[in-house]
Amino acid sequence: MHPLQCVLQTQRWGPLASVSWLLLRTCRAHSSVPSTACPSSERQQEDGVRKDFSSRLASGPTFQHFLRSASAPQEKPDMEDPPPYLTVDELLGRQRKVYLETYGCQMNVNDTEIAWSVLQKSGYLRTRNLQEADVILLVTCSIREKAEQTIWNRLHQLKALKTKRLRSQVPLRIGILGCMAERLKEEILNREKMVDILAGPDAYRDLPRLLAVAESGQQAANVLLSLDETYADIMPVQTSPSATSAFVSIMRGCDNMCSYCIVPFTRGRERSRPVASILEEVRKLSEQGLKEVTLLGQNVNSFRDSSEVQFNNAVSTNLSRGFSTNYKPKQGGLRFAHLLDQVSRVDPEMRIRFTSPHPKDFPDEVLQLIHERDNICKQIHLPAQSGSSRVLEAMRRGYSREAYVELIHHIRESIPGVSLSSDFIAGFCGETEEDHLQTVSLLREVQYNMGFLFAYSMRRKTRAYHRLKDDVPEEVKLRRLEELITVFREEATKANMASVGCTQLVLVEGHSKRSATDLCGRNDGNLKVIFPDVEMEDVNNSEVKVRAQPGDYVLVKITSTSSQTLKGHVLCRTTLKDSSAYC
Ligand code: 5AD
Ligand code: SF4
Repeated sequence: MHPLQCVLQTQRWGPLASVSWLLLRTCRAHSSVPSTACPSSERQQEDGVRKDFSSRLASGPTFQHFLRSASAPQEKPDMEDPPPYLTVDELLGRQRKVYLETYGCQMNVNDTEIAWSVLQKSGYLRTRNLQEADVILLVTCSIREKAEQTIWNRLHQLKALKTKRLRSQVPLRIGILGCMAERLKEEILNREKMVDILAGPDAYRDLPRLLAVAESGQQAANVLLSLDETYADIMPVQTSPSATSAFVSIMRGCDNMCSYCIVPFTRGRERSRPVASILEEVRKLSEQGLKEVTLLGQNVNSFRDSSEVQFNNAVSTNLSRGFSTNYKPKQGGLRFAHLLDQVSRVDPEMRIRFTSPHPKDFPDEVLQLIHERDNICKQIHLPAQSGSSRVLEAMRRGYSREAYVELIHHIRESIPGVSLSSDFIAGFCGETEEDHLQTVSLLREVQYNMGFLFAYSMRRKTRAYHRLKDDVPEEVKLRRLEELITVFREEATKANMASVGCTQLVLVEGHSKRSATDLCGRNDGNLKVIFPDVEMEDVNNSEVKVRAQPGDYVLVKITSTSSQTLKGHVLCRTTLKDSSAYC
């Protein structure tokens, strides 16, 4: 084992693990829950459990215990070897039903699958019915104020459910998982006494223990961030069995420290999952018949697997021309181009996408590979955030407008027909009307196919919070956002018009939500394509007529477009390999 890894693991499950002990809290000492919310039989029962728990805690781990843990690090909490204050049985789910609710980005969807995988292994059942849940877990997002407000509102609704449930014998347990748990930590426990557990993004393995502690009426939290947790060995449980596509997490965290962004504080340092474990998951998904994999990470193209010593050479990372980082250049390890190459070789009939990248990490070898490989989608998300070099500097994005535009040209030359998308923030600190117009002009110049636009939301802890002034009035932010959305839509409609008359390869997802007589799928650029569900030829067998099924590739002639959807009629069923001859 690499010495650094040894230290890190010691930190995770050794002495620092005591922090989560310190965050164990008793309901009585800190709670302002009115006594009516805690009926006496319930309280007696919980008091008994608490006394028992407290006495075990008193006779539980000693300083020596922590020293032992430090010298013999454990990789993960072990069901066979529970902490001294819990029995193996208490760590088990014992058929209790968990209801999971996901908010925010695709990373959170993936985290939900990881959390569920952990709980399923320890004997919990999953329910889709909130009313019958014994445990409700919200996987949360902190990126903007609005995302957090949604969770606070949801907690108020759940409070009513919990209060009602307290009269029965099995108390409902509520947990906050993910970014909001990490950002607000004890503030949540103090503000919402009905929250029983908190688990940050690196603490999902600890869920059985946290829930076991919560069973005794204590609040429990683990918000430790890790330097090496990638959940590499946890196969996420795909929630939709009929799905044609899946997300595969390849890295976690972010080192970029853009001045507006809370992510580096909630999800911690960048770390990559070993290539071998990613390939194993992709192979499994291919065997299950999935036709599309999206490699997932906060900074997906900063991927750098340094788990294999022979690749830890002194070669520095290649950046896109004109781009810089906020951190010291990183050296060695297997990079994104290598991973993309390997993943795309697993199954030539499987489409490969990736999200979300940073524009700084698009060296030529990555662009070349996307161009060459039929099954790597010609679709790149290139978050610009602003069209003004002055604002980009304040955002600490590491590039100017000019460098960004040059990269766009270079990408378009390297990958003809590439589909581009971007993120933009309206009304960042100090943004003038002139800066805003520069963003408008960038939207016009690039003509993105897809866009994600947001009003700036100041987040505590970030560099912008400490050093800059959130001085653009709310109504100005919203007006600028509206203007950006309008311009984006106009340009996307124009960009998509170029597809009319073209034949595109579409991966069928199922029936259109709006019409049972239409099918819906995605083209290579990830745009939705709608077409009538009719019989068609199969290119490999012209004798039979077939109806397209989810997971089939079909060729669709595009007849009309809007800013977000394409429409057309289907020509035939095909394969990804055969289709290249048609395009
Ligand atoms: N306010 C508004 N938008 C933000 N984003 C990140 N942080 C903030 C913030 N504080 C946007 C960026 C990023 C996307 C995921 O969310 O555009 O690319
Ligand atoms: Fe946030 Fe910037 Fe990291 Fe993206 S690259 S997660 S915007 S800090």
